[in-house]
Amino acid sequence: QDYGYRHVLPGEHVYDGVLFFGYSPPDILDAVKNFRVRDDDVFIVSYPKAGTTWMQEILWLVVHDGDFETASKTPIYFRSPFLEFKDLTLNEVGLDIAHGMRSPRVIKSHLPFRLMPKKLDKSKVVVVFRNPKDVSVSYYNFYKSSSSFGDFTGTWRDFLIMFLTGKVDHGSWFDFTISWWKRRHEPNVLLVFYEDMKRNLKGEIRKIANFIGKHDLSEDVITRIANHCTFDNMKKNPMTNHEDVYSINSKISPLLRKGKIGDWKNQYSVSQNEDFDAVYKEKMKDIDIPFRYEW
Ligand code: A3P
Repeated sequence: QDYGYRHVLPGEHVYDGVLFFGYSPPDILDAVKNFRVRDDDVFIVSYPKAGTTWMQEILWLVVHDGDFETASKTPIYFRSPFLEFKDLTLNEVGLDIAHGMRSPRVIKSHLPFRLMPKKLDKSKVVVVFRNPKDVSVSYYNFYKSSSSFGDFTGTWRDFLIMFLTGKVDHGSWFDFTISWWKRRHEPNVLLVFYEDMKRNLKGEIRKIANFIGKHDLSEDVITRIANHCTFDNMKKNPMTNHEDVYSINSKISPLLRKGKIGDWKNQYSVSQNEDFDAVYKEKMKDIDIPFRYEW
């Protein structure tokens, strides 16, 4: 679909069919493929705004047996590097930070399967899915608040078209989602839904802990992690709320914005919802993913 508005991302380029902004330049995407994976690595893979930060905090704590002491001193984005991201101000690359980190590492990525490190089969991959209507609204608000996307001044309608056509950083939600859905049964992959975490956080944390081999994590630690990772607590916590991140203007929209299931209903018009459903049906043809769009 053609549309009048065209938002150009700073340094944007298309890599193997996926649109990226300048923070993930081609040389880094090349290097990601040959990234030296360790057997005890845990990757968090999600499309932007699916609840990545939430899962990072949970997984980091699970992997480190509930080390709340360290978690209270170091922001999550330092404890869990963003693989394909180059901080242009600090001139730091997620890949390099990860390379120099002690094991076990908890590494974040937003890449579709084909762009991930080639030798991924030994480490664990936790994939986070969230219903795409809430993802699109969350991403729209993030675009407005984040200078990395280049002063986005478009409307919600503009953004929705960009989202549906994959003209946003990290490309098409549909491509990303299909690529990982196909791998959900692989033994080193665990698929977790944001909406399930909202409904039963402790249960999902236990599932995640078992998946990464932490069967002996006590009920007490699981309860404390769940309590530490509620929306309200993570929003209050300077180590997780990203309010110190220079590129995010939290006054416009904080990273921890609403944290709800079904907020899309406050944003989508009836006809936008119909348009969305039509595009979804066409792109996801034979694929039936049990997304929840409301509580
Ligand atoms: P909203 O914009 O809908 O509030 P990501 O970390 O992938 O960028 O995702 C950000 C989204 O996850 C935001 O969604 C944010 O509020 C939500 N989120 C972050 N921490 C959360 C938590 N502890 N509980 C529920 N939602 C959370």
